[in-house]
Amino acid sequence: MSSKPRILLTRRWPAAVEQVLAERFDVTLNEGDVPLTAAELAEALRTYDAVLPTVSDRLPADLFAGGGLRAKILGNYGVGYNHIDVAAAKAADIVVTNTPGVLTDCTADIAMTLLLAVARRAGEGERQVRAGEWSGWRPTHMIGGKITGKTLGIIGFGRIGKAMAKRCHFGFDMDVVFYNRSRIDPAEASRYGARQLDTVEDVLKVADFVSLHCPGGGENRHLINAERLALMKKGAYLVNTARGDVIDEPALIAALENGVIRGAGLDVFEAEPNVPERLRGLENVVLLPHLGSATEETRVAMGMKVADNITAFFDGREPPDRVA
Ligand code: DGY
Repeated sequence: MSSKPRILLTRRWPAAVEQVLAERFDVTLNEGDVPLTAAELAEALRTYDAVLPTVSDRLPADLFAGGGLRAKILGNYGVGYNHIDVAAAKAADIVVTNTPGVLTDCTADIAMTLLLAVARRAGEGERQVRAGEWSGWRPTHMIGGKITGKTLGIIGFGRIGKAMAKRCHFGFDMDVVFYNRSRIDPAEASRYGARQLDTVEDVLKVADFVSLHCPGGGENRHLINAERLALMKKGAYLVNTARGDVIDEPALIAALENGVIRGAGLDVFEAEPNVPERLRGLENVVLLPHLGSATEETRVAMGMKVADNITAFFDGREPPDRVA
């Protein structure tokens, strides 16, 4: 019998990372690569020394209750961890780690992609060309919103928010304002061409584009609701690469249908992978399947970070990216 810690990967990971993990641990893979059920996750916590979940796994408090757990660490494959009840994990003496830093640029790139695509109607245009419905150039065809020189409002000025500010200010000459829970040194903010405003409302009122970069869950659930959507400029666009639950989705759909805002670019949804039919039916949205970190380099780097965290833990060292 192997004396190596037993670990479970809840989904398939890039081959290079699976190989590194197999050299260090007794690894079980989820060969089918379909999400585990709640019962399977509960069983995993009783069976493995480490469980390595992703955003597609829900680990609520009840999974950690009742004792008899073998798991000592959850090495989350991702920076966001609101799908894990970390307080309950901690109470059950289970360490939780994440993967900050390595997905910053790629996630900001997807936010930028959505911003550009929704404002310039790229999704609509692409659908029109593919359907053979383009009747040729004309002065009034598919007019979008200009980006250069406009105001970007960022909610959440962490790594990804800063990377987005940098792209928009230095790349597109945008005036960048942001809301962040804690105060950011103005000198630090100005390195990203940005300045802090006092409230979410202050940002929503002045921005032509609003991009969400705060964590999901907790007090951020439905941060963008009907009331706040109504504060946005009529011609404004909303971009979300953070977590689906930061937006009250039915309220957003109503705002898009009724012209309260002009459009939205969404990479994340409230009940992934379910995207409401009414949202899918709208032309003024660009919808992506949670692609923020989906580049070869980033997905490998995320896996290597998890490997480093659980290696440190089982070597008796402090995991570098411990969140609980
Ligand atoms: C993250 O890292 O949080 C991504 O959204 C994938 O989970």
